[in-house]
Amino acid sequence: MAISNEKKMDLLLSLCKRRGFVYPDSDIYGGFANAWDYGPYGTELKNNIRDAWWKLFVHGREDMVGIDTPVIQHPKVWETSGHVAGFSDPLVEDKKTHKRYRLDHLLEEAGVNITGMSFEQMASEMVAHKIKSPDGNPLAEPKQFNLMFKTGVGVTEDTASVAYLRPETAAGMFTAWKNVRDTMRKKLPFGIAQVGRVFRNEITPGNFIFRTREFEQMEIEYFVKPDEAAAAFDMWLEQQKFWVHEVLKIKKENVVYREIPDADRAFYSKRSIDTEYQYPFGQKELYGLANRTDYDLSRHQEASGEDLRWLDQESGERYIPFVIEPTWGLTRTVLAVLCEHLDIDEADTSEGESEPRMVLRLPPRLAPVKAAILPLQKKDGLSELGREFAQKVRATGLTVEYDEGGSIGKRYRRQDEIGTPFCFTLDYQTKEDGTVTVRDRDAMTQERIKMEDVPAWIQSKLV
Ligand code: GAP
Repeated sequence: MAISNEKKMDLLLSLCKRRGFVYPDSDIYGGFANAWDYGPYGTELKNNIRDAWWKLFVHGREDMVGIDTPVIQHPKVWETSGHVAGFSDPLVEDKKTHKRYRLDHLLEEAGVNITGMSFEQMASEMVAHKIKSPDGNPLAEPKQFNLMFKTGVGVTEDTASVAYLRPETAAGMFTAWKNVRDTMRKKLPFGIAQVGRVFRNEITPGNFIFRTREFEQMEIEYFVKPDEAAAAFDMWLEQQKFWVHEVLKIKKENVVYREIPDADRAFYSKRSIDTEYQYPFGQKELYGLANRTDYDLSRHQEASGEDLRWLDQESGERYIPFVIEPTWGLTRTVLAVLCEHLDIDEADTSEGESEPRMVLRLPPRLAPVKAAILPLQKKDGLSELGREFAQKVRATGLTVEYDEGGSIGKRYRRQDEIGTPFCFTLDYQTKEDGTVTVRDRDAMTQERIKMEDVPAWIQSKLV
């Protein structure tokens, strides 16, 4: 019998907590809704995804530089970008329970096609369709709810000190554009990349780490000559596909690249394609790609009074570049990778375990632990030999775990659940000829190799 999607999500959540990937935040205080701690393995996995991304898109390309800008920027940045006026979702409140919902979500659930609908249109559709809250109660008048978190900067609490936590990393790349342009000796087209934490006061966070109020993004703003923007868009779509299928190893059938219809695109975007993934709770956005035209730089040029145009050295022409923006949610990637690679064998509940056997078949380069070193016996010096060997492999820069406790079956099972691709066992033969047995997590093959060859052997498998 196929496992239900709900059950799959339950098993994933329980594995994440039990094995140290993601814990409920502030757990000792009963948790804090929709906030999550990345545990030791979750942190390693997230860092490995981030590093693979940076390596591919920043270090791996001549036309890219990476920067790091603050979470709290000049408040004018958000006025100019349009976020203060327009970065909002339609909010409705249940008159009885005072629970809050997104009106667009309630309309969609009621079968109303909201494509291209303005806030006012949604408000009248709510009345026309007599939309009620999920608890069956009447709803109050909808409001536009701004998703930016406000904070205060400095020692006074007057309105002059109002600042915002960034809701996307993109803005920092537009505000730094002039300095990067003037210092990095790049030629168009080139891109600026940034990875960082962003904040959105989401009305309905949920689905584990899918939608949270605090999350991480990996974004690129790629600056091009306006007439080369369409080709650059296609190039970045291919790059996003490469990332999804070749790096994250997500199957093609689980992903849809959805062209966003004119009516649903942000007003400044000339073309947008969302990458959608088949999560256990439905097909939803994973990444975005947009042709933002010259909208942002033009607005910043006007508001700051700085000349943000590009000077074409050959033609002497000055123009504001167009921007292609591929954007990736880092924390959402962690979720997609976990969903994609969690293999649940329902038939197997061996060794008295209450849950079915689970193997996290992570691509080796993303796995939190690359190798486990497991002596078959603790006695006769095998323990010391194993620890020493683990330290030697660790010293080459690989993440290694040494484990000598419990049956070998249980130790394998634990490593399978955290996605360790290679387990090395030491036995009496190891003492004689300096070889260990390696067990491949997915192929389940066993091979004997020399201890001194192990680091290079693992490195060769990190694809
Ligand atoms: N600069 C463009 C931008 O921020 P977006 O579609 O709003 O575009 C980009 O966000 C990506 O950030 C999304 O594709 C998704 O992966 C991730 N993301 C957005 N909201 C999120 C949330 N509340 N929690 C987790 N990830 C989120």
